[in-house]
Amino acid sequence: MIYLKTEEEIEKVRAASDLVSRTLGEVAKWIAPGVTTQKLDTIAREFICDNGGSPACLGYHGFPGTLCIEVNETVVHGFPSNYALREGDIVGTDCVVELNGYNGDSCYTFAVGEVDPKTLRLLEVTKESLYKGIAAAKAGKRIGDISNAVQTFCEKAGYSVVREMCGHGIGRSMHESPEVPNYGRRGIGPLLKPNMTICIEPMINLGSKNIVIERDGWQCRTKDRKPSAHFEHTILITEHEPEILTTFKYIEEALGISPEGAPVAEE
Ligand code: MF3
Ligand code: CO
Repeated sequence: MIYLKTEEEIEKVRAASDLVSRTLGEVAKWIAPGVTTQKLDTIAREFICDNGGSPACLGYHGFPGTLCIEVNETVVHGFPSNYALREGDIVGTDCVVELNGYNGDSCYTFAVGEVDPKTLRLLEVTKESLYKGIAAAKAGKRIGDISNAVQTFCEKAGYSVVREMCGHGIGRSMHESPEVPNYGRRGIGPLLKPNMTICIEPMINLGSKNIVIERDGWQCRTKDRKPSAHFEHTILITEHEPEILTTFKYIEEALGISPEGAPVAEE
């Protein structure tokens, strides 16, 4: 069952999406060698609560954090811990905020200090693939058009697409129908209709697509232990172009980079 949202509901998903975006903007200010992932988690939780929201992942089927922390080979669902970030790491922070009964979901993968150019390229391509997926998310098209856009772009660049995890619908629940895979054939799957709210979230590996889930049942890493990147937006399907409800602008302001990834000119 795919819920089409009313205007009032869309406004609530929009507000939750803005809060999760601002939360990741706060997290961005702390990304540096020596900072523990637990510290990032605390920053996010306090910011969400101070702004009237609640951290939707915390306690979700027992998940122990406000953020899913994705260091290097961690694909998704990593736990915040006393691990201190190191120069050359990448770290994804995936966050869901609930505000007034509705959810917003976003993820950004950060470079910590100087990162190997091959890995930086993985970040760039994965982020760009998210926008390729969004561009395909038009009313009248199908989920498979989004999936195919992400997959084609990433595989052309030489990367592999994780199969086991997908994007999803979002609203009152953080995970609603439909599933939004990052691979698949054009023209298949559920029809996209105006007033659907969905999350697109490519999880893209530098090496092979294979993953391993740890014995805790959550933490997911690449089998070959090569890096994996993850970016996510919550979007609204409209009669025209999709509307991106989350934004990376707070993150990119905090990092001092323009949305295109170029350094902001010094005054
Ligand atoms: N943010 C994740 C997603 O994109 C969900 C987190 S799973 C949780 O679907 F269990 F940690 F909440
Ligand atoms: Co999500």
